[in-house]
Amino acid sequence: METIECDIVILGSGIAGLTTAIHSSNESNRQLRISIVTKLHAMRSHSVAAEGGVSGVLYPEVSGDSIDLHAYDTVKGSDFLADQDAVEILAKNAPEEIRFLDHLGVAWSRDEKGRILQRPFGGMSQPRTAFAQDKTGFFIMRALYDEISSHKNVSIFHEHFAYSLIIERGRFSGLVCMDLASGESRFIKAKVCVIATGGASRVYGFTTTSHSTTGDGIALAYRAGIPLKDMEFVQFHPTALVPNGILITEAARGEGAYLLNSKGKRFMEDYAKSKMELAPRDIVSRAIITEIEQGRGFTHTESGLKYVHLDLRHLGKKIIDDHLPMIKEISIKSIAIDPVDEPLPVRPAAHFTMGGINTDIHGRAVADENGNVVKGVWAIGECGCVSVHGSNRLGSNSLSQCAVWGRLVGKQIAAYASSEGFNKGEAEKLAETERDRLEELASRESGEDPYKIKEEMQEAMDEYLYVYRNRVGMTRAKDKIEQLKARFSNVYVKDKSRSFNTNLRDVLEIGNLLDIAEAIAIGAMHRKETRGAHAVVEYPKRNDKDWLKHTLIFKNRGKIGLAYIPVKITKWKPVERVY
Ligand code: FUM
Repeated sequence: METIECDIVILGSGIAGLTTAIHSSNESNRQLRISIVTKLHAMRSHSVAAEGGVSGVLYPEVSGDSIDLHAYDTVKGSDFLADQDAVEILAKNAPEEIRFLDHLGVAWSRDEKGRILQRPFGGMSQPRTAFAQDKTGFFIMRALYDEISSHKNVSIFHEHFAYSLIIERGRFSGLVCMDLASGESRFIKAKVCVIATGGASRVYGFTTTSHSTTGDGIALAYRAGIPLKDMEFVQFHPTALVPNGILITEAARGEGAYLLNSKGKRFMEDYAKSKMELAPRDIVSRAIITEIEQGRGFTHTESGLKYVHLDLRHLGKKIIDDHLPMIKEISIKSIAIDPVDEPLPVRPAAHFTMGGINTDIHGRAVADENGNVVKGVWAIGECGCVSVHGSNRLGSNSLSQCAVWGRLVGKQIAAYASSEGFNKGEAEKLAETERDRLEELASRESGEDPYKIKEEMQEAMDEYLYVYRNRVGMTRAKDKIEQLKARFSNVYVKDKSRSFNTNLRDVLEIGNLLDIAEAIAIGAMHRKETRGAHAVVEYPKRNDKDWLKHTLIFKNRGKIGLAYIPVKITKWKPVERVY
């Protein structure tokens, strides 16, 4: 097997991965050898689909906004589960990162004075979401990709699927991946690995995310013995288009759109009187499902899905065309409804993985509840859990998180890779064993249909681990996932070709999704309270006395274990969350 040696390997090529690459490269005066490994072409990373914007306090002298207010909104939005020291870093550094992106050429929407426009977003007490129409992710990715393409010390391995993370004696040794074009495995030997592979919302069937959002890095880390944190907290975005789940950005409500039930009522006044449609997502999603369950929704004829209306008509054509052109185009092309003329059918869909690989405030992977780091491994962006979102993320904080920790981690890894050597061990041999395992999987003559397993997993997750959860349902989900995992151990890859064997890639992704579904179900079953996005019918209240703590879930030698670690409180005592 070919070995490729470099100083730093970054797994994932979205906003988090590319930002880390730029800063680590700059920090070393473009001297360190950096590899970006991505299963897609980099510009197809899911970050390109980010719509609404990126949060940060840009013009406090004009708006009266402040860093502290941004931090407090985030902590309150998280239902007090976010680590407040991390949130303070986010709020403090976000403005600089938006300006950095501006210097790279992001085409922000601007006011007549040339200032970057900022729109209101859910749970934010000020309009502080900077945006580029409703295509913010695409414009940021284009700027980052242009920039990284000029760094000659950075190589991008497009369409390389990583399937094993090799850690020896608590330290990173290398990554094993498959070049999808040739089907050949490669060993990437490096001193540092930054995992930046995004979320895992494809464990659900109804989701706003692309088919590639399969939590690969999260599952790799989990199988390599790194615990996952707070996996029970899955964000359901309130306004996914029915029937296809495509995201209708929260920016629509930021611009003033209404949510209406089948009686034509703006029902959010019964759930969040002051914030209305701009309450945090957990609250809006629960409100929509409650309306539907109490018979005030609509039913989509072909799919049977129930929904409410998102009404943009009063915004007028100009605002929609200037600030929301993509959702207009998507609605017309995919369901033949123009939001200028008719309300859109929407319901909550899985959108964001608030848990992820357990990290400390620096983004370093942490192996246990005592804070011991896994040397050489960092995790950032949606796949990492630095705990800025707690149990409910505020919209537009994720892009700032990617940008802020992209720089912080980029600087750390440049220093680390300049002073440390490679791990000594038998990584190449271990990599060959992993390759042999993959070849055995690919050559099986018969077995279980992976797509059937995936479908059944998504059905169970959609049914039992959605906006409202109950004890019987969560247990059913866990049991079902266990059965599916047993079947998956005998999975069959029908396609025997080597070049672009998407069947084999799908099987690897489904294996990753099953591990993550299991972590979500187990974390959820054990947390006996309602907090943020985890709403349990039998425990309808938040319980700080017993549950103001993060869940860690471990997979050690095939066995699963749980532990809990405290939440970091700096300035803000938990209070009841009222909007
Ligand atoms: O609604 C949106 O545009 C999504 C933004 C986010 O998840 O941050």
